[in-house]
Amino acid sequence: MSDRRRINIAVDGFSSCGKSTLAKRLAQALDYTYIDSGAMYRAVALYMLENGLVDQGRLDKAGLLERLPSLKIEFRYDPATGKSATWLNGRNVEREIRGMEVSRYVTLVSPVPEVRAALVDLQRTLGREKGVVMDGRDIGTVVFPDAELKLYMTARPEVRAQRRYDEMLAKGVEVDYASVLENIERRDEDDTKRAADPLIKAPDAVEIDNSDLDQDAQFRLAMELVQRTI
Ligand code: DC
Repeated sequence: MSDRRRINIAVDGFSSCGKSTLAKRLAQALDYTYIDSGAMYRAVALYMLENGLVDQGRLDKAGLLERLPSLKIEFRYDPATGKSATWLNGRNVEREIRGMEVSRYVTLVSPVPEVRAALVDLQRTLGREKGVVMDGRDIGTVVFPDAELKLYMTARPEVRAQRRYDEMLAKGVEVDYASVLENIERRDEDDTKRAADPLIKAPDAVEIDNSDLDQDAQFRLAMELVQRTI
């Protein structure tokens, strides 16, 4: 692919839709950089939790905004895992940002317009040279409205809940299906109803409903779209 035109690929969609699996696979096949924009929101949430900026479920917004310019979020290759890891102020926080506490509190920071503006700036800088596959909620609409290819991924909530439930069981986490489904439906609501940059399909995005598609079929479909675009 190196002799071809490099493009940016935006992959947006609901949570637990397989966005990152597809985005990583595309990046690998094309020798592009994969960027997980959700990890950045998670890193800000971790900072908030570790610095006493949340009290009884309420964000100290003024405190966070005062410190926001000093936050340094980076992605660095981790030779131990062979994958990219998220770093916050010089520390590898990849494990912490995936924990339940951050997952629970990230929606306190993701709707804050100033947080979004700072992270969107960083995301645009990372995509300046093209050759980026970025997944998130607002990549095709806000971050890269001129991305050459935009994918919008959906799947029925019950299908996503079942996949997440199976994943958690395989990891030995004790959960019940009903609460996984409830969490997914609540996050869908949060993502689509918030005032700042809600999840919406860009008019020029290609929708992939993967309720009845396996990972290989999604990858083949996306690669066809890439070839057509390039
Ligand atoms: O994709 P994820 O679950 O890791 O995202 C974490 C949170 O950040 C989730 O609440 C949605 C939000 N998010 C966002 O608002 N905009 C993005 N571009 C990516 C994620």
